[in-house]
Amino acid sequence: MNMTTNPDGQEFPAGPPQGKLAPSGGSVLREAKSVGARIFCVANQKGGVGKTTTTVNLAAGLAKVGQRVLMIDLDPQGNATMGSGVDKRKLEFTVYDVLLESASIAEARVTSQKLIDGGCSYDILGANRELAGAEVELVDIERREKRLKLAIEAVTADYDFVLIDCPPSLSMLTLNGLCCAHGVIVPMQCEYFALEGLTDLVNTIKQVHANLNKDLAIIGLLRVMFDPRITLQQQVSDQLKQHFGEKVFNTVIPRNVRLAEAPSYGLPGVVFDPSSKGAQAFVAFAEEMVQRIKAM
Ligand SMILES: Nc1ncnc2c1ncn2[C@@H]1O[C@H](COP(=O)(O)OP(=O)(O)OP(=O)(O)O)[C@@H](O)[C@H]1O
Ligand SMILES: [Mg+2]
Repeated sequence: MNMTTNPDGQEFPAGPPQGKLAPSGGSVLREAKSVGARIFCVANQKGGVGKTTTTVNLAAGLAKVGQRVLMIDLDPQGNATMGSGVDKRKLEFTVYDVLLESASIAEARVTSQKLIDGGCSYDILGANRELAGAEVELVDIERREKRLKLAIEAVTADYDFVLIDCPPSLSMLTLNGLCCAHGVIVPMQCEYFALEGLTDLVNTIKQVHANLNKDLAIIGLLRVMFDPRITLQQQVSDQLKQHFGEKVFNTVIPRNVRLAEAPSYGLPGVVFDPSSKGAQAFVAFAEEMVQRIKAM
């Protein structure tokens, strides 16, 4: 079986979980050093696995439990922007301007009236199609992977959490996210090939940790779109837990139609239908994140 290693130097199989897996060994929760906001990337280079749903609902859930949150949309699709009640076509400044240093985060961040009305308000650094050009425009710029990190430093005292929604690729944009993060939240569906794409992501995180960002200390796997009636999902979930131990968040996000409907109303599910199972799971996940950072 092909093996790869995670940022803690633990080995795990590169393919899907099969048969008996080795125990996970040491703890994930190594110390992260810096003060100010805790910064997390929501990343998985697979498309459509629930990154944006996780980012906006975790942001709303954290706001609901009293945390100050900045949500950064690092995806030119702008789904996290729209899903937070902000029209991506009407933004004066976006994360593109921040990366190109034509605006600061303080100038570019916006709030959303819909979120304020829903009682779960967080700040938004939005994105739109313009961001797709940043990749090319950053090519000749020195320390291009650190542009976002430098910009965040100016506002880190304003927040408890910064959440970054990454695009479905391991691009310069995702690298900018990883360079400023303390941790990476990886949403995963409990399917047979659940671990396959993880190898590249884990290797990238390992390289960033070794060469660019020593603060990148945590990787956490979040089981999403979970349906307990499907035996295979239950089995893969058990194997993930058995193999990765503490790296797997305790909270499980169920497949829930209200979470899928919420973006068309420009709202996170947590605001759109707080009583839904999906919304309740994300508030529980927010509480788990608050507990975890207390232990950091
Ligand atoms: N727990 C859930 N229950 C039901 N539907 C969900 C759930 N999570 C996400 N979805 C739906 O699955 C689709 C993909 O989710 P999402 O956009 O969050 O994924 P993504 O990883 O951000 O995609 P991309 O890679 O394109 O950025 C969306 O239509 C979303 O509404
Ligand atoms: Mg997305």
